[in-house]
Amino acid sequence: MKILILGSGGREHTFAYKIAQSPKCEKLYIAPGNAGTLNVGENVSLNVGDFSGIKDFIIEKNVDMLVVGPEDPLVKGITDFCKGEPDLKDLLIVGPSKRGALLEGSKERAKEFMAMHQIPTAAYESFTIESLEAGKTFLETLSAPYVLKADGLAAGKGVLILNDLAEAKTELENMLKNQKFGEASAKVVIEEFLDGIELSVFVLTDGKNYKILPTAKDYKRIGEGDTGLNTGGMGAISPVPFADAELMQKIEERIVKPTVNGLTEENIDYKGFIFIGLIKVGNEPYVIEYNVRMGDPETEVVLPRVKSDLVEVLAKTAEGKLN
Ligand code: AMP
Ligand code: GLY
Repeated sequence: MKILILGSGGREHTFAYKIAQSPKCEKLYIAPGNAGTLNVGENVSLNVGDFSGIKDFIIEKNVDMLVVGPEDPLVKGITDFCKGEPDLKDLLIVGPSKRGALLEGSKERAKEFMAMHQIPTAAYESFTIESLEAGKTFLETLSAPYVLKADGLAAGKGVLILNDLAEAKTELENMLKNQKFGEASAKVVIEEFLDGIELSVFVLTDGKNYKILPTAKDYKRIGEGDTGLNTGGMGAISPVPFADAELMQKIEERIVKPTVNGLTEENIDYKGFIFIGLIKVGNEPYVIEYNVRMGDPETEVVLPRVKSDLVEVLAKTAEGKLN
């Protein structure tokens, strides 16, 4: 197969590294790629948001499979775009449709999906500029710490956790009124704080069948000794030491199965990865967020542990034959 990976992170380097090892990979392109991907494939100077440029490249090079790394093109609908192009009708695509990608593109949508399919998560309400005062009143009903989340994409930085009620009200106003996170915070989800330890579970699904990949945990805070602001993640480990068989069974039964069943029931075209951000409170797992792609940097520790031929697994996913 001729394969094109979109993205430029450590995540995409890992995809490239793993895909290049497959005997099924005849030619590998990465757009735009990075210094690492240069060693295993051919970098192409195309922007991940340039859908028509990507289409032309796929046609010119006879690309068989497209693997979308980051969330941005997914949320903007690259999968629907490609499926709508008659010239790309045979292209295999790893990455959900726009409707599927909304699970990451909108925190409110993700919470509604979880409520609808009885998936355990923190209690919440969402607010806009029109309901700013109601938002402040809602904050008064909660106890500290207060969790405020920009509804839209904010590169992992749109969440504020505040200990002080007055500060939480000010920040809510900054998000809704002063667009602290731009358009992403035109809507804000206020959530119950969950006190526990986090882990990430990665699922590959074709919208009906699924496979759980190795667990991971990333390191987010910028300072030495786990201090300071959150980054998008700077390092990761796999497996997660406390993700024992009992916890994993709860996660599969209460979270993974209802999530995949929810996609099927809602008739959502979803062929790709689901990265479930979880928090273990006591011994019970709760969902913090969905991402509709692999994690960066988590991929660096997850994919090397997969023993199967990744190209075969990805192709079967895209064909809807993961089982
Ligand atoms: P998110 O972008 O939704 O993953 O949130 C970013 C980070 O904020 C998470 O990785 C958690 O550390 C923290 N966080 C998010 N929601 C909650 C919550 N309800 N309770 C406690 N911590 C949270
Ligand atoms: N490392 C967190 C993420 O990829 O969203």
